[in-house]
Amino acid sequence: MSATTGLQDVSARAGGDASSRSLHVAIIMDGNGRWAKRRGMPRALGHRAGVNALKRTVEAAPDQGVGVLTVFGFSTENWSRPAHEVSELMGLLKAYVESDLERLDREGVRVRIIGRRTGLAPDIQEIIERAERRTASNTKFTLQVAFNYGGRADIADAARAFAEAVERGEAKAADLNEAVFESLLSTSAAPAPDVIVRTSGEQRISNFLLWECAYAELVFQDVLWPDYGPEALSAAITEYRGRDRRYGGIAADDVAVAG
Ligand code: IPE
Ligand code: IPE
Ligand code: MG
Repeated sequence: MSATTGLQDVSARAGGDASSRSLHVAIIMDGNGRWAKRRGMPRALGHRAGVNALKRTVEAAPDQGVGVLTVFGFSTENWSRPAHEVSELMGLLKAYVESDLERLDREGVRVRIIGRRTGLAPDIQEIIERAERRTASNTKFTLQVAFNYGGRADIADAARAFAEAVERGEAKAADLNEAVFESLLSTSAAPAPDVIVRTSGEQRISNFLLWECAYAELVFQDVLWPDYGPEALSAAITEYRGRDRRYGGIAADDVAVAG
């Protein structure tokens, strides 16, 4: 594979001993609207309370053994919401970056925004680029915000990028394998998620990390996202740690007696 295509082998991305390395936790932050409705408040206030929950969770994550936190902030399907709600969510991303970027940078957090850039307003694209540029050399913790993100869109975009490399004569169809394909996804810089959490009691993926979820543990919590924080994160990690990840093999305990 030629260096000019940007296609690279990332087959080692999921490596490492699960008990010693830091975790990649991904969260579908759901339930802002219901949280507000229960209080007789407009949905926008639920989203604003959701930003505070995000701040609490980001703050708590490193001390709980999390090295990468990926949160679902806006899906490619969320454009179907009323225009004022879409604009509230866009404004919240901007406000979050404006208020927290300096502190995140100081604390060694690398910020990455995953998802489609096209379709976002120029001021949002600019703020995303600023956040990524400013924190690019930070290594203590990674915060990935999935924004205008859809798992299917990301897979389709990766497929198109590979097809274009073939059209340019920089790659051959036979070069395509899982590692190459994965390198073209917007999540390629991080290891695969160890656990995907969804709040609010819903038990579905809603187009989040479709490729990356292959061997993630799924944890569903009833808590509405604006009520989330260190305790709920700790409960999710405890549940994850109790799982036996087999990756298609057999349990470690059974290896000795298997043969
Ligand atoms: C999650 O809360 C935030 C986004 C999807 C942007 P919701 O807005 O989906 O809240 P519910 O599901 O209606 O309660
Ligand atoms: C998923 O939640 C998207 C985000 C949390 C950003 P939704 O609330 O949009 O998902 P559905 O519609 O309940 O499946
Ligand atoms: Mg929802």
